[in-house]
Amino acid sequence: MSQNLVFTNEVATALDTILDTKAYNRLAVIVDENTGRLVLPEVKSIHLSNAHVITIGAGDACKTLDTLTCVWEGLEQCGATRKSVVVNLGGGVVTDLGGFAAATFKRGIDFINIPTTLLSAVDAAVGGKTGINFKGLKNEIGCFKEASDVIISTCFLKTLSVEELKSGYAEMLKHGMLSNHDEFKKLLNYDFKNADAEQLLELLKTSVLVKEGIVREDPHENGIRRALNLGHTVGHAFESKALHGGKPIAHGYAVAWGLVAEMVLSHNILKFPSEDLHHLANFVYENYGAYHITCDDYDELLQLMHHDKKSQSGEINCTLLAACGDVRPGHVISDDDMRIALDIYRDLMHI
Ligand code: GLY
Repeated sequence: MSQNLVFTNEVATALDTILDTKAYNRLAVIVDENTGRLVLPEVKSIHLSNAHVITIGAGDACKTLDTLTCVWEGLEQCGATRKSVVVNLGGGVVTDLGGFAAATFKRGIDFINIPTTLLSAVDAAVGGKTGINFKGLKNEIGCFKEASDVIISTCFLKTLSVEELKSGYAEMLKHGMLSNHDEFKKLLNYDFKNADAEQLLELLKTSVLVKEGIVREDPHENGIRRALNLGHTVGHAFESKALHGGKPIAHGYAVAWGLVAEMVLSHNILKFPSEDLHHLANFVYENYGAYHITCDDYDELLQLMHHDKKSQSGEINCTLLAACGDVRPGHVISDDDMRIALDIYRDLMHI
């Protein structure tokens, strides 16, 4: 497997350069209602101006078998063959679903991802996970198939809300912590509220390459790729609890709060430095606020963590850090240790 990653704010030129070198007979571009309106007209690519446009609904609720069928129909209608290519221009729903549509159409055709959100640029668009939700389960049907090329840019970020930016930034924080202490500090010091496209592109490049390195080592998530779940065991439990309670929270926010709780565990179990834990907690509190829980919520949260789909046999499983860059995947966490961590999370988040 090899995926060509291009970091640039000259997206149209990058796309035309890639397509000039390949002899594709048809080009289909998949957008959602928002990227079709706001982003597609901005990408002045010669090839894209002749593409067959397939528009899907925006948001996770549209990541369905029905939408997938519409995309396959669109590919049929434009006469796509094995020698055709799909360009996915959008956030994680477009790159996941569009990637899966391409991976399965005529047993698989090439696709190029152009992520338009920070979250998809730093995570979903890279690494070959494609798929759809099914029967209420997220990403239940899918396959590993990497985009042939991913064009990563920060020039679309002006179309995003601050919440969407912060959501993506939480995954960058995660990559920084998996990488080394310098990256972690750099991310804590960056003023992403006044995001500068070029400066952010540099940070994003380093961040995506952390993920790319891990995926290269373990493309099918049999081992070290699980490290990318840092912050997600607790984060997913917060996200699910909020969803069940009718007040959904953004994925990246849940990850930011999950990182704090899991660094408490890392400190208690592996002596992750207290100073770094406090810097992280302060950054998260200042920029994301707090996810409010009381001790009455612990049983529900523990239940959710035991049923996390990443858990192999019903135990609570976390990736922990002994220090930034010193990654220890696959820690089984006792309920008592998790309760203590949630107590300390509440103290750090001033709850
Ligand atoms: N989002 C984590 C991964 O791609 O493995």
